[in-house]
Amino acid sequence: MTNPQWTEVDQYFTDTIAPADEALTAALADSAAAGLPEIAVAPNQGKLLQLLARTQGARSILEIGTLGGYSTIWLARALPEDGRLITLEYDPAHADVARANIARAGLDKTVEVRTGAALDTLPQLETEGAGPFDLVFIDADKVNNPHYVTWALKLSRPGTLIIVDNVVRGGGVATPHPDDPAITGTREMFDLVAREPRLDATALQTVGAKGYDGLLLARVVG
Ligand SMILES: C[S@@+](CC[C@H](N)C(=O)[O-])C[C@H]1O[C@@H](n2cnc3c(N)ncnc32)[C@H](O)[C@@H]1O
Repeated sequence: MTNPQWTEVDQYFTDTIAPADEALTAALADSAAAGLPEIAVAPNQGKLLQLLARTQGARSILEIGTLGGYSTIWLARALPEDGRLITLEYDPAHADVARANIARAGLDKTVEVRTGAALDTLPQLETEGAGPFDLVFIDADKVNNPHYVTWALKLSRPGTLIIVDNVVRGGGVATPHPDDPAITGTREMFDLVAREPRLDATALQTVGAKGYDGLLLARVVG
């Protein structure tokens, strides 16, 4: 679902208070040129992620779902010089584009792109003692969202902020859709968050250049 007015207003917000710079613009251009799907967050959403990371005082960030590294760059710029961001990407071609985009943004010392299915790379992070992360951004295959939130909790501390993108599914999230694994996974994630006493959460619907969607925000409280 899209609407020209939503796009126009997003453009206005982006132009006035969340302008892209050369590295961000080039990251999107090179991602498109490499044939990656145009499903990165919108610029004003990237800025929201950055503001949340800064508000959080994040020193360590975990991202699940890198694509071309666009949201990665917004998030990594919130980190202090000695901060770190690990981002997990299944598709090696996406990871290669992301690494180049991240290096051009001057963030290759801060960001590590790990290739592989996140359900394989997340246990490795635990084994390495890579956590706890101050912020986790989940934006990969939606069917695995319940597993990703469970892993985010394992790799968190009280105070960690967990953000899950694309939770509205065109409005489908409100009712069961047994034939749609992304909706089913998202609803299972909401059930998990609802019964998890260590999470305090809300979710918001959004409209904009990326259409009708939304995100879940959860704070680890214990
Ligand atoms: C919506 S895109 C990420 C967009 C990115 N966060 C941004 O806003 O710039 C989702 C990405 O998750 C990746 N992905 C899908 N399944 C995955 C899995 N099982 N493990 C890790 N990454 C996966 C896809 O290849 C794709 O690049």
